[in-house]
Amino acid sequence: MTAPPRRRALVTGASEGIGRAFARRLAADGYAVTAVARNEDRLRSLTAGLGPVHRALVADLATPEGIERVGREVEQGRFHLLVNNAGTATSGPFTDVPVASAAAMMRLNCDAVVALAHAFLAGARAGDVLLNVSSTLAFAPMPNLSVYSATKAFVTSFSESLWHEHKDRGVYVVNLCPGMTSTASQPHTGEGVPEALVQTPEQVVAAALTALRQRRRPTVISGRKNTLFAAAMRALPRRTVLGVLGSDH
Ligand SMILES: NC(=O)c1ccc[n+]([C@@H]2O[C@H](COP(=O)([O-])OP(=O)(O)OC[C@H]3O[C@@H](n4cnc5c(N)ncnc54)[C@H](OP(=O)(O)O)[C@@H]3O)[C@@H](O)[C@H]2O)c1
Repeated sequence: MTAPPRRRALVTGASEGIGRAFARRLAADGYAVTAVARNEDRLRSLTAGLGPVHRALVADLATPEGIERVGREVEQGRFHLLVNNAGTATSGPFTDVPVASAAAMMRLNCDAVVALAHAFLAGARAGDVLLNVSSTLAFAPMPNLSVYSATKAFVTSFSESLWHEHKDRGVYVVNLCPGMTSTASQPHTGEGVPEALVQTPEQVVAAALTALRQRRRPTVISGRKNTLFAAAMRALPRRTVLGVLGSDH
């Protein structure tokens, strides 16, 4: 008896952190994974460890060329699952950060997400899933992470609209909001943050995959503490939120 064809997933930002945890878990669950990032060595070492059916695709998603290359792959590759995970956060007072760096962050965190979502949803079939990685900062304007938190508010609003547009044709769009997650770029250690508030990438991915099985909600917040944080951010007056989050600065 021949095995059924593998389902196919494309994961952006798969060479590190949450994206790498997605790639590993999806491969273990039987998906053929196409892993996207800039660093070819890290991507190849990931896919070599996963096995022969998995692919590395090197692209810089903060550039129009990189977005176009991955968009073509999404259009032509017949993926069942797209994980729009790649994202960066530049911190600091707004005018201390070069505007070119803010623009690159917006291209990666927003433009690439929109372009790849478009490429995916245009050919998606019932049962397919688009998962966009946002953040609990989508619910909270964050002083010194002003552009980053605004990009995540964009991703959340965009993804929730798409959830509604596509649910009746059986295509599930889900907005994943991790809170503080310990990754190479954002270890969240030594920042006076209690360990109990920081999740691992694997915990975030487990929360996402539970949501994919249930297919109920447009937004999934990873972990109970992060759910409470997001609820408080939505309930409190904006001025209070800014006073609390900006109190260190
Ligand atoms: N960690 C947290 O606390 C946290 C909390 C909430 C939300 N998030 C969100 O979760 C997602 C993943 O975060 P993470 O902490 O796992 O990040 P990470 O460990 O820094 O990994 C980022 C991944 O994105 C890739 N990447 C970065 N710039 C890219 C570009 N221009 N083009 C293509 N790929 C690029 C990186 O690989 P290369 O460098 O090789 O390109 C890497 O694979 C992001 O969207 C982030 O905003 C993270």
